[in-house]
Amino acid sequence: MTQVLKIEGQHPLKGVVRISGSKNATVALIPATILSSLGPISIIGVPHISDVESLNHLLEFLNVEVNTPSDGHLVIDPTHLKNISLDHPAVNKLRASYYFMGALLGRFKEVKMKMPGGCYLGPRPIDLHLKGFEALGAHVEYTQGYYHIKAEKLVGAKIFLDISSVGATINIMLAATLAQGRTTIENAAKEPEIIDVATMLNRMGANIKGAGTNVITIEGVEQLGGTFHEIIPDRIEAGTYMIIAAAAAEEMIIENVIPQHVESLISKLKDMGVSVEVERDHVIIKKGIDLKPVDVKTLPYPGFATDLQQPLTTLLTQAKGESIVNETIYTERFKHCLELQRLGANISLSPATATIKGETSLFGDHVTATDLRCGAALVVAGLIAQGTTTIHDVYHIDRGYDELDHKLIALGAKITRVELND
Ligand code: EPU
Repeated sequence: MTQVLKIEGQHPLKGVVRISGSKNATVALIPATILSSLGPISIIGVPHISDVESLNHLLEFLNVEVNTPSDGHLVIDPTHLKNISLDHPAVNKLRASYYFMGALLGRFKEVKMKMPGGCYLGPRPIDLHLKGFEALGAHVEYTQGYYHIKAEKLVGAKIFLDISSVGATINIMLAATLAQGRTTIENAAKEPEIIDVATMLNRMGANIKGAGTNVITIEGVEQLGGTFHEIIPDRIEAGTYMIIAAAAAEEMIIENVIPQHVESLISKLKDMGVSVEVERDHVIIKKGIDLKPVDVKTLPYPGFATDLQQPLTTLLTQAKGESIVNETIYTERFKHCLELQRLGANISLSPATATIKGETSLFGDHVTATDLRCGAALVVAGLIAQGTTTIHDVYHIDRGYDELDHKLIALGAKITRVELND
């Protein structure tokens, strides 16, 4: 059985939506818990997304106890953790399963696991993660689809990342917390999710300084223990609702937002002529009238997020004139454009660049969410298109958006989820 979302377009949205805990922080925080040898970790604000289910399957596979005492609250007890070769099917369901590499390597000095899966956005190598582990003293072997990473002992080192990779920064940080001596990560990524992971690790007893800057220092400690942690709000979910509001809302109040985390989007929306009111922990957005075209270049944080490039492209189809989107993080992250073309968008593609000519009317049709944020781009399109848009492969959306259809229905959208017999 597969599911589709059917969206009847052009119903104005109005009301309040609450943003959930950050997916990209959560998917690192959950593997990070297994670094504790001294009791359970309690995490609140956990989003209802299938990536969390996949990671919980992996925890249980590793003999970790996972409990959900209340909604959005996970208690993870790694007391009986076993270092089993990670050949579970859930490894292929998400990219972030690679965080078990750093965590198990830190804890046991050895890890064996399959190649992680995740959204196809063009090539997504993990060479920088592996180089980092090697710098800490590990030996890496890749045979028959499995990584085997092993160290006699992990010793802190100076590591320069050629690209400021989010995943490599977090993975090296995880392994280095239990290494001997000091690790310095230079040209580290500065995304807010990295600060969130470092905050939880420090509460567990780690000694990490500089998270959120491009130099992170980790003084290795003997062992880590249990703690309590509340996940930061999801800046990409917040950004997605901000774009939806700019496209289709009489007025939307988006709560549980750290406005600083979405500054680059706020600035673009204002350039497009959208009314954005920014308060301490929420933003208020109204549908833009006579939207202006803008040029966008995706960059590491605090630049414009690649994850918001896809939904923004849909909004740009509604601007009068030509917008140019230059994707510098994942140069092939444009599959959504082919789907948007089916709905009537005028987009031409050249390497790493999409040129969008607007404004164009969109018309409902059958489209496919080829990846998570492509799904978000198609939801924005469905809400503004004439007629009904049917989005296939909804499981991509469910990987990363907490109850997207329910939240939108509460705002006035006409959406149904339909089971299809394969
Ligand atoms: N890169 C390498 N070698 C590496 C690692 C990365 O060449 O070893 C390259 C990548 O190919 C890419 C660039 O470096 O061109 C940046 O990749 P990064 O490692 O920062 O990405 P990631 O950690 O795999 C996370 C998010 C992505 C988000 C990117 C960029 C998670 C689980 N995923 O991926 O989120 O697009 O950072 O901000 O945190 C999404 O949420 O839809 C999503 C794909």
